[in-house]
Amino acid sequence: MRMRKIPWAVEYLEQAQCRIKVPEQYKGKWKQFLDTEVLHVEIGCGKGNYSLGMSKLYPQEGFVAIEKNDSAAGVAAKKYDTDTEKGKLCLIRGDAQALNEWFDKQEIDVIHLNFSDPWPKKRYAKRRLSNTRFLEQYKEVLALDGQIQMKTDNAKLFAYSLLEFQNAGFQMIDVNVDYRKEPHPEDVQTEYEEKFIAKGQPIYRCVWKR
Ligand SMILES: C[S@@+](CC[C@H](N)C(=O)[O-])C[C@H]1O[C@@H](n2cnc3c(N)ncnc32)[C@H](O)[C@@H]1O
Repeated sequence: MRMRKIPWAVEYLEQAQCRIKVPEQYKGKWKQFLDTEVLHVEIGCGKGNYSLGMSKLYPQEGFVAIEKNDSAAGVAAKKYDTDTEKGKLCLIRGDAQALNEWFDKQEIDVIHLNFSDPWPKKRYAKRRLSNTRFLEQYKEVLALDGQIQMKTDNAKLFAYSLLEFQNAGFQMIDVNVDYRKEPHPEDVQTEYEEKFIAKGQPIYRCVWKR
C-alpha cells in the first residue's frame, strides 16, 4: 500500500528534533534516554497519532514510534515536535527489519502493531509484521514478561497472525473480535482505526506474551 509522497514532510524529517538518526547508538540505553521504566515500541506508526496519544495518557512511560515511509514519518515527526503536551516520545525512520540492531535483548516491554499492511499476496507474506521472521525478532527484544498488542480491521490478516503467533510459541492473553464495541479509553485510536470505526467495521485485537 503506497502512500502519496508529501514533499514538505520528507524535507521536515531531515531536521526533525524527535527523530533518532542513529538508533544503533541507543541500543540498551532507551530506558535511560527516555527516563522511563516501561518501554513501548510501535512498529508502522503511520502519521503518528497512536504513540503521541499514548505518551500523553501514560506520561511516565516511554514510546518509540517506528515508520519506514518518509512521508508518514515526516508528518508524525512534525506532530511530535510541535505538540507541547507530548510525553516521553521519539521516532525512528526505518524498516523494522533492523529491530535487533536498534534494541537490546529483552529491552522492550510492549510492542504495538496497529493496522499493519496486510500484504495479501502470498509471495509478500514475509513483509507482514506478524510473519514468523518478525516474530522471532520480537522474541529477542521483548522483556521476559513483555507483550505484543495487535489491532487490525483485516479478518484474514488476523487469522493468519493468530497462527503465526501460536506457531512461534507466544501465549495468547487476550483476544477480541469487536474491540471497540466497548469503550477502551486506556487505548488510543489510530488514524486507520478511526476510519474503520466510522465505517462501522469491527476492530480485531489480540495480546500475546512470549
Ligand atoms: C496501514 S498503515 C497503518 C498506520 C498506523 N499504524 C495506523 O493504524 O493508522 C501501516 C504502516 O506501517 C508501515 N510499515 C509497514 N511495514 C513496516 C516496516 N517493516 N517497518 C516500519 N514501518 C512499516 C507502513 O509504511 C505504513 O505507514
